[in-house]
Amino acid sequence: MARDLIAPSILSADFARLGEEVDRVLAAGADIVHFDVMDNHYVPNLTIGPLVCEALRKHGVTAPIDVHLMVKPVDRIVPDFAAAGATYITFHPEASEHIDRTLQLIHAEGCKAGLVFNPATPLSHLDYVMDKVDMILLMSVNPGFGGQGFIPSAMEKLRQVRERIDASGRDIRLEIDGGVKVDNIAEIKAAGADTFVSGSGIFGKGRAEDPNRYDTIIAEMRAALASVAR
Ligand code: DX5
Ligand code: ZN
Repeated sequence: MARDLIAPSILSADFARLGEEVDRVLAAGADIVHFDVMDNHYVPNLTIGPLVCEALRKHGVTAPIDVHLMVKPVDRIVPDFAAAGATYITFHPEASEHIDRTLQLIHAEGCKAGLVFNPATPLSHLDYVMDKVDMILLMSVNPGFGGQGFIPSAMEKLRQVRERIDASGRDIRLEIDGGVKVDNIAEIKAAGADTFVSGSGIFGKGRAEDPNRYDTIIAEMRAALASVAR
């Protein structure tokens, strides 16, 4: 079984010091950088694009960058993110006219590909593309904002996706995004996740007061994850 990966969402980082924030959270033991791209069209918020991804690479970030596209259309922007240094590119099936084609495009651009499921999006979108996904991302909030509460039905959905992945025999990451904190991360792992996005749970509080805040939170998350056998 794959190693647990902690993926801080930089949506809740201090954007005025983004490079430093990413360096600090990786030094604290985070594994991959979760990069939320919002377009004020598919979701009601506007964030960062390929230039910022490229800037993080130029800054010296070598960890995988996990680009979560909350944009419509999808295909136009894929090559730009590949050129900017994305490792994973995930997208919402509702935002692509041709899901299989978009998955192929992401691979052709040299990145790993994934599908993202909103809380009410059915898993049937996976039926014919299990051989083309490297990651399945389940949203445990409706996309658009950090700091929302975890929607409990995501637990059962995680179990269902874990069954599908295990039945496929393929090496597919199961990522969860939204409301992940130190206190629920163990239960989320037990339901089947192996990749854990956390924005406000890591960046959200105490930044100014405690210079070791990220080390503390990531160590607490690791300890909680270690308490769950797989
Ligand atoms: C929401 C984003 C998330 C967000 C998670 O649309 O996809 O990645 O940053 O934030 P928290 O962990 O605060 O729920
Ligand atoms: Zn995200």
